[in-house]
Amino acid sequence: MAGYSGRSDGAGYSKIKNMRSSLADRMVRFPMWAAGPLIWPVMESAHYFSASPAGPFTRKPLTVELAGETRNLQTSAGIFSPDGIDKGTAVLLADVPAPAPQGNLLDIGCGWGPIALTMALRAPHARVYAVDVNERCIALTNGNAALLGLDNVTASTPEAVDPDLRFDTIWSNPPIRIGKDELHSLLLLWLPRLAPGGSAWLVVQKNLGSDSLQRWLVEVLDDSFTVSRESTSKAFRILRVRKASR
Ligand SMILES: C[S@@+](CC[C@H](N)C(=O)[O-])C[C@H]1O[C@@H](n2cnc3c(N)ncnc32)[C@H](O)[C@@H]1O
Repeated sequence: MAGYSGRSDGAGYSKIKNMRSSLADRMVRFPMWAAGPLIWPVMESAHYFSASPAGPFTRKPLTVELAGETRNLQTSAGIFSPDGIDKGTAVLLADVPAPAPQGNLLDIGCGWGPIALTMALRAPHARVYAVDVNERCIALTNGNAALLGLDNVTASTPEAVDPDLRFDTIWSNPPIRIGKDELHSLLLLWLPRLAPGGSAWLVVQKNLGSDSLQRWLVEVLDDSFTVSRESTSKAFRILRVRKASR
């Protein structure tokens, strides 16, 4: 499957409406995908591009441990890591320091909500914004916040977030497989919205281009940002982007 260093022709949320034709284009450009088992990587990651995944949206129970306790939540088909906490996400949640206790926090690409919910549980006085292009992810994250009795979580499409908001902490397992250009646009949409003194923590699989992503971040972000590799755990790196305090 393509990672960060792979093809740069992925469809971003701005192109969601063209998802079907985009996938069809790939079949045409890479006809062998349509012919054999290689079609599966495309289908497996289709939810990355799809605002409305195929098939019925049927919620099913999901029991996971978040912020040190067992939580009874809901999940569904047609989303990322539907049956539990992704390995990269688990590394991020285990390794990052506590989020800012107050202010605005952000999860870019929330899925069913493991990162946003953990932020909200660990920082009950902060407001957590969770964005995703997949409408099931938005519904599940909002629903899971309600199941946990959290009233400080708002999941929405990226476009619905007030562009003037600034974020004290960003945590994300970003959608690397959307392709390089789309990933760059996504990060340039959100990282400049860090508040002074704020930090973004991104977990990226080493073999999906974490080191080249780090180099790119250093190149494109202005001098008010510093980019560092905070840790390497299993096959993942955690990158930190810090915005200087004034
Ligand atoms: C690697 S998954 C992480 C999901 C979840 N945070 C977790 O840890 O399980 C990345 C998520 O980003 C979403 N996504 C893809 N393109 C996006 C975009 N342009 N803006 C926001 N989210 C996007 C995908 O739908 C997917 O849910």
